[in-house]
Amino acid sequence: MVSIIESGPWRDLAARAEELKTVRTASLFADEGRASAFSIEAAGVFLDYSKNKIDPETMELLLGLADKADICGAIKRMISGDKINVTENRSVLHIALRDYAARTYHVDGEDVSQAVRLERERMAAFAKRFEADSLLGYGGAPIDTIVNIGIGGSDLGPLMAVEALRPYWLPGKRSRFVSNVDGQHLSDILAECDPARTLFIIASKTFTTQETMTNAASARAWFLENGGDEETVAQHFIALSTNEIAVADFGIAPENMFVFWDWVGGRYSMWSAIGMAIALQVGADNFERLLRGAHAMDEHFREAPIRENLPVILALVGIWNRNFIGAAAHAILPYDQHLHRLPAYLQQADMESNGKSVLLDGSRTQTGTGPILFGEPGTNGQHAFYQLMHQGTDTISADFIAPALSATPLADHHEKLLANFLAQTEALMIGRDFKAVCKELEALEYPADQIEQIAPHRVFDGDRPTNSILIERLTPETLGALIAMYEHKIFCQGVIWGINSFDQWGVELGKTLAKRILPKIANIGGEVLPISDHDGSTARLINRVNTIRSQAETD
Ligand code: F6P
Repeated sequence: MVSIIESGPWRDLAARAEELKTVRTASLFADEGRASAFSIEAAGVFLDYSKNKIDPETMELLLGLADKADICGAIKRMISGDKINVTENRSVLHIALRDYAARTYHVDGEDVSQAVRLERERMAAFAKRFEADSLLGYGGAPIDTIVNIGIGGSDLGPLMAVEALRPYWLPGKRSRFVSNVDGQHLSDILAECDPARTLFIIASKTFTTQETMTNAASARAWFLENGGDEETVAQHFIALSTNEIAVADFGIAPENMFVFWDWVGGRYSMWSAIGMAIALQVGADNFERLLRGAHAMDEHFREAPIRENLPVILALVGIWNRNFIGAAAHAILPYDQHLHRLPAYLQQADMESNGKSVLLDGSRTQTGTGPILFGEPGTNGQHAFYQLMHQGTDTISADFIAPALSATPLADHHEKLLANFLAQTEALMIGRDFKAVCKELEALEYPADQIEQIAPHRVFDGDRPTNSILIERLTPETLGALIAMYEHKIFCQGVIWGINSFDQWGVELGKTLAKRILPKIANIGGEVLPISDHDGSTARLINRVNTIRSQAETD
């Protein structure tokens, strides 16, 4: 496989980046049409990417790169059910889960659309029973609390969306999420639950994940010890999975299982049965609105030419910043408190997808792939890590995301939030040079020697690349469109880098080693066995842990 970095567009982009080194991004706004030329809108999402160090020539080169990587062909291959996840021999069809255009999707020649529709209907019917208070617990009272037990894609998507859609929560219903194998996570949540009114959702694509199965078993034991019995487990436990055998082994009957399929990646699964917690907390109709929002972005993604294609443009700007401007980290900065789990969600979506060093043909990549993602809601991040973004030694690119209207307005809070959203991208781009700082200090009548001492510390280099992503307000539709936009961006970047964005072998080794170490952890007050076959550091740490545990008192 010829690496994309050997291609003409890649080389030309590298040369263009050199030429633009001495050009200030702010100066490019001498072209009055720049902001509108470098903006694009689709499915209720408006993207302004004009604050990146990009000019029309760069954009043409990036579009040439997309052509060279055959983005259009890759999109077609994905939606036609080709097994583009080659290392797991799987199709990648999460868009089929939210198709409302009556399209058909095929896996191994078999139409999967009908199965998708049926499962969507089963979920909606279940959610409507919950909403109508007709899901009853063992004592006859309606279930009002759901506890989603899952991790990674079986936790982050539902949790992020439930938080994002807080204004749509059904009154009197609440949801909790348990992911960590740290027993404190489950215990803390159980302490808030009434077993007679709680529904446990065991969410796991594989139904083998250690954390989830451990939490599920403990939740079941707690239920049995606190009023429930084997007969009433069925009223209080449902499973969301692809693994019917493991679900049955756990003791959950087929009618309490909602299925999805191996062509839905874990981190792309919130649109499937894995979204059950969302459907229960905001209602089936709002869950459908979320899916419809994603579908609108899908329609745009599959139909729009690449130069008018929002996810493609976002991907290309990201490639430019990552590979030609040198931004190895990318911040996700939602100016909406309800999107506070979006950075964590996108961390998995992006870093588990594109955190790869090997190309599809098995050779090593010669260029940077997925950036390090991090983020916090604005304005909180401003008082934490923005310092480094403004004045640190590394260039960090960022997506600033905001709704123009608040879902729950309060006094002038939203105006202040928006002012900060707008000011930060401007500050990151224009910076403040030494001369301007000196002038400012002179105006404040600082003595000359102090100005000399202080001024360098107040200089902002500027030229820090940002995207501004604006929506009218955060609704199920705009949330769906936003997430679909990011999914497609990640896919396009993976295509250009020539990697498989849909496997996750990098999480396996740690899991295997944890299984090897587990039997070596001493019981409280128990015996310490000698540790061998580990590196010196790990062996010593195990010994230290075991010494502490063996000397501790049992309760
Ligand atoms: O972290 C690895 C991973 O396989 C993720 O891709 C996945 O979302 C998560 O574990 C949970 O897996 P499961 O849904 O099978 O429990």
